[in-house]
Amino acid sequence: MNLDHRPQYHFLPVANWMNDPNGLIQWKGIYHLFYQHNPVGACFGAMHWGHASSHDLVHWRHLPIALAPTPDGADCDGAWSGCAVDANGVPTLIYTGVHPQVQCLATSDDDLIVWQKDPANPVIAEPPTGLAVTGFRDPCVWRDDGLWYMILGSGQQGVGGLILLYRSSDLHDWEYLGPLLEGRLDETGHNWECPNLLPIGDRHLLIFSPEPLRQAHYYIGELDGHRFRPKAHGLLDYGGLYYAPQAFTDQGGRRICFGWLPEGRSSEAMAQAGWAGVQSLPRLLSLSSKGALEQRPIPELEALRRSHQTLEAHALANCEGTVVAGRMLEIDVEMNVGSATSLGLQVLRASDGSEHTTLLFKPAEGRLYLDTRFASQDPGAEGRLTSAPLDVMDGLLRMRVYVDHSVVEVFANERVCLTGRSYPTRADATGVALLSDGGSAVLSRFDCWTLATIWSPN
Ligand code: FRU
Repeated sequence: MNLDHRPQYHFLPVANWMNDPNGLIQWKGIYHLFYQHNPVGACFGAMHWGHASSHDLVHWRHLPIALAPTPDGADCDGAWSGCAVDANGVPTLIYTGVHPQVQCLATSDDDLIVWQKDPANPVIAEPPTGLAVTGFRDPCVWRDDGLWYMILGSGQQGVGGLILLYRSSDLHDWEYLGPLLEGRLDETGHNWECPNLLPIGDRHLLIFSPEPLRQAHYYIGELDGHRFRPKAHGLLDYGGLYYAPQAFTDQGGRRICFGWLPEGRSSEAMAQAGWAGVQSLPRLLSLSSKGALEQRPIPELEALRRSHQTLEAHALANCEGTVVAGRMLEIDVEMNVGSATSLGLQVLRASDGSEHTTLLFKPAEGRLYLDTRFASQDPGAEGRLTSAPLDVMDGLLRMRVYVDHSVVEVFANERVCLTGRSYPTRADATGVALLSDGGSAVLSRFDCWTLATIWSPN
């Protein structure tokens, strides 16, 4: 058996380990994606910044490693996560050097390929005095009214997660302004990683990834001086395998977000595969008219569509068996919930049902479930059952489901996302089946496309 679980239209490096997206920026029209990368193994190791560029956020070109640890430098044990800014025409990376955790700068000329570390590194050498921090990393920097602002992920021992706010006129001298937001240990863990703050609609979106919860949280709220006032809370993805996302604003003013999809399998399996970690699809973030966060796949992904299949609208029977098949699919489905007690679909389904990944909406609970517990007969693959709250106010369940070998990424009602990892062992685990139970439900729309790889020009 030689089944390839390597995704073909989600971004990943040629080989070895990847985690967080870093330094997302559109520079002179070209998108740049940097990422946490161990170039010598499919396991977490001395962190480098890998680099790729794209004209459309879909097709990527691998570029040389942008940052490597400098022996005896402030980042000698790793160049950890951070961001990219346009500093008066100079591309500038702001990132965390370890150990200890300190903040560093690197600049490039116009091509963003070769980076020089700033001789002044580290530009922030220690946490604010008097704070017993659990972490001090992952700068997110923006410019406002001629000044630079930075937030850092942190936490206070015994208290909870924390985001620290700084200000500077030149990216070198930083003044600590105080905590932007504090969390509670029992609610959102002890240390917040990878904070992101950006305006969205007439509000601000704050994203952070709390340890040990391993989920990407967000708040929609308001900036009130140097404090953030949270209003609405949610998870950017409810599948449990989406972490440390980074959002940025492109030159067209769109808010776009990538997140790291960790593997759901053993470290031995990762070592054997020779790669580990995938980037999510680029997601378009917006606010609904009621101020709720919306997430959609970016429209550029439609360029990957190849052969198209539709199904006629019809009342759903209990389980309709395989309606289409494939391991690189986009499924766009709309179901009228009716009186069904559960409805949804299965993907990566073996013909005898012995392996399957299930998406099931339960109207009475108002939850959409993603179940990968039966996705693989390989005991090294970690299946899980996760769920997202979902209101189908108009009685219509709408799902965009992306299957890409071991990735199943779902956008439901433009509102919630669930991403899972599935590692089928059977060659025939490619089927898509429709499910409904306990009443009447109607399939009102079904479109399915096979999708092309992002790595070839066809
Ligand atoms: C999040 C994270 C960051 C850190 C980086 C190291 O996944 O732990 O806090 O900068 O990964 O690779």
